[in-house]
Amino acid sequence: MTHTELMIYREPEELAAGAAERISQAAAESIAARGRFTLCLTGGSTPRRAYTLLAQRQGPAAVDWSRTFLFFGDERFVPPDDDRSNYKMARESLLKNAPIAVDHVFPMPTNVASPQLGAAEYAGMLKQFFGDVAWPEFDLVLLGLGDDGHTASLFPGAAALEVRDRWTTCGPPGTLPPPVDRITLTFPLLNAARQVMFLVSGANKAAAFVDVYQGRVSVEKRPAVGIRPVNGRLVWLVDRAAAGPLAND
Ligand code: 6PG
Repeated sequence: MTHTELMIYREPEELAAGAAERISQAAAESIAARGRFTLCLTGGSTPRRAYTLLAQRQGPAAVDWSRTFLFFGDERFVPPDDDRSNYKMARESLLKNAPIAVDHVFPMPTNVASPQLGAAEYAGMLKQFFGDVAWPEFDLVLLGLGDDGHTASLFPGAAALEVRDRWTTCGPPGTLPPPVDRITLTFPLLNAARQVMFLVSGANKAAAFVDVYQGRVSVEKRPAVGIRPVNGRLVWLVDRAAAGPLAND
């Protein structure tokens, strides 16, 4: 049974600060319980401010980066220095400001011949880190929401939505920019997480958010509705604009 929590923030800046605080809490809890924090980052633009605030935390409030390991939920199949790269966004907002070792960061490989090879290579990297387990359990998976209801690179109507026997897959561009091939974690791997946290900002997301949060649509139409952590927590951090009519509940 998924335990779901909704936090509505008045402004994007408050959402970013709330996200940084909660990520830091998850880090402290994970490290206390298991000696490490495995965090799967989302791409897109929404998390950028939260990542910067997370990296800026000092003293006891800071993340113990020496025990933290960063992964990616999806990636655009472009070079790591391309402005469309999720890794580049994370490097500029988080990695350059946080004292985290290079070998604690696991970007999805895009310097290979094809997205298929990149997906297969990433599965190998995950296996090397987590071991030969059925489904690795990230301590925290961060996700965004497209205004079409996609999450990670699981797009409406995509074949990737049906992949249930692998940790990673790849696919063609969705309808939203940027129009490049993608590598993505699959639903079963995302749903194996101890905690999944959506960060959603902006009025353009309200229709998709309400549909997904209320669970009234198909995974085909709004893929994010397929995110139901098997044993974990599901947390929605949204701003008032994205909450739409739910902001008045
Ligand atoms: C990506 C993301 C994607 C993103 C949503 C929301 O590669 O683009 O992983 O799933 O989270 O599209 O993007 P914004 O935060 O830019 O609205």
